[in-house]
Amino acid sequence: MILWLHGFPLTSQIFEKQRAIRGFDHLMPELPALESMDDYARFAVSQLDARGIEKATIAGLSMGGYICFAVWRLFPERVNGLILIDTRETADTDEARKGRYDSIAKVEQEGVAAVADAMLPKMVVAEELKPRVREIMMTTSPEYVKAALRAMATRPDSSSLLPSIDVPTLIIVGEEDKITPPSDAERMESAIPNARLVKIAGAGHLSNFEKPDEVNAAIGA
Ligand code: MLT
Repeated sequence: MILWLHGFPLTSQIFEKQRAIRGFDHLMPELPALESMDDYARFAVSQLDARGIEKATIAGLSMGGYICFAVWRLFPERVNGLILIDTRETADTDEARKGRYDSIAKVEQEGVAAVADAMLPKMVVAEELKPRVREIMMTTSPEYVKAALRAMATRPDSSSLLPSIDVPTLIIVGEEDKITPPSDAERMESAIPNARLVKIAGAGHLSNFEKPDEVNAAIGA
């Protein structure tokens, strides 16, 4: 079982191309509007509880990766592997945190489009994929977008957690990712004992969406 936790401001549709990965059941919930990463971790585990699943591999894309770290901190016994896609273990800088609160104000005035249009240029490299990414972004609710921004702004630094991650961990990063660049992935790889890093050429922040064949092959292997 792979439990897939999507990124921001996105929905589980961003994993639509991962359903092709054979040999696993895929659970792809929609993240609700919650105010902290710990609440998101409890939500993730509730998805397993509801299906009587003891342990799963948890795959997190970007914000989904932030949730993975919270799941590992609170419920390590529920995790048999991690897939960390275009994410990072560190907390927001003060500047990034201020940007989150500015974005919340923008969403209040202009709706989700304000955040979607600001982020879209950094999500994928390929121009032809941008309309679909924007379409997915525009299905998110302002309540979720604002809550997720607050949860990301207040998330703790998970650096000290990395040496304790003793399950097999696959780290994936787009070589052109400008939001969580390859240097973040390399730092996580060196701190997590049982980690393997796969860099995806020609992919931006949403590497699983931009280069599904390469990412699916790495996960299948
Ligand atoms: C995401 O893709 O989930 C976000 O870009 C993460 C972030 O803004 O830190």
